Amino acid sequence: MTLDASAMKKLVAEKAVNTYVKDGMNVGLGTGSTAYFAIKRIGELVAEGYDLTCVATSVQSEQLARECGIRVVDLDEVDKLDVTIDGADEVDPKMQLIKGLGGALLREKIVAAATEREIIIADESKIVEKLGTKAPLPVEVLVFGHQHTRYALERQGCKAELRMRDGAPFVTDGGNYIYDCRFDGIDNPFFLESRIDVIPGVVENGMFLNTAFDVLISRPDGSVTRMAEQLR
Ligand code: 5RP
Repeated sequence: MTLDASAMKKLVAEKAVNTYVKDGMNVGLGTGSTAYFAIKRIGELVAEGYDLTCVATSVQSEQLARECGIRVVDLDEVDKLDVTIDGADEVDPKMQLIKGLGGALLREKIVAAATEREIIIADESKIVEKLGTKAPLPVEVLVFGHQHTRYALERQGCKAELRMRDGAPFVTDGGNYIYDCRFDGIDNPFFLESRIDVIPGVVENGMFLNTAFDVLISRPDGSVTRMAEQLR
């Protein structure tokens, strides 16, 4: 058996939902092409009778969830989320992450912070030895003075490119811009995060450090591994 990219996403998403989502839970819904399959599977559970209350990390995921018959509420309507299932752009061996190529990093981080178990789903192409080697680091910034924010980002050792869509700057659900920051590998993510987060104009960065409770990885041979088990 050799699975293509889409089949690997579906496999890992369904495995995560089947493993971690239980009847009665408050569930965070991720964003992206892998999280898409998790939302579809959660919709099936709701159709089977599961009583789930869900919070979406993007307008796009909220729309999909509603189409699937899932009850979606605002984050402030729940005390906490039991589990959130979301994708990632890079995963290092310690389950540190880069997220945000899908443009939803701000809400994703707020939702993750309100979640007891943040479950990350990805195929093996997302695994890296060091963060920042394959994917750029997305940084969400205020529109006001964004060029100055960019200069400050580049002083951290990256090339920062304003994300565009259809010939205009991409605007996030929060009304902000994103700079995709290309590093030649990030040696110390915690230090870099502390430098980026104090730049005026930065709203949020795409490093999700010590956030994942578990990372499920699918492979073309149809296997799914749980990184948390390997780290124990
Ligand atoms: C969106 C994200 C996504 O989870 C990330 O980009 C992975 O997406 P995909 O599953 O489509 O590869 O962080 O902001």
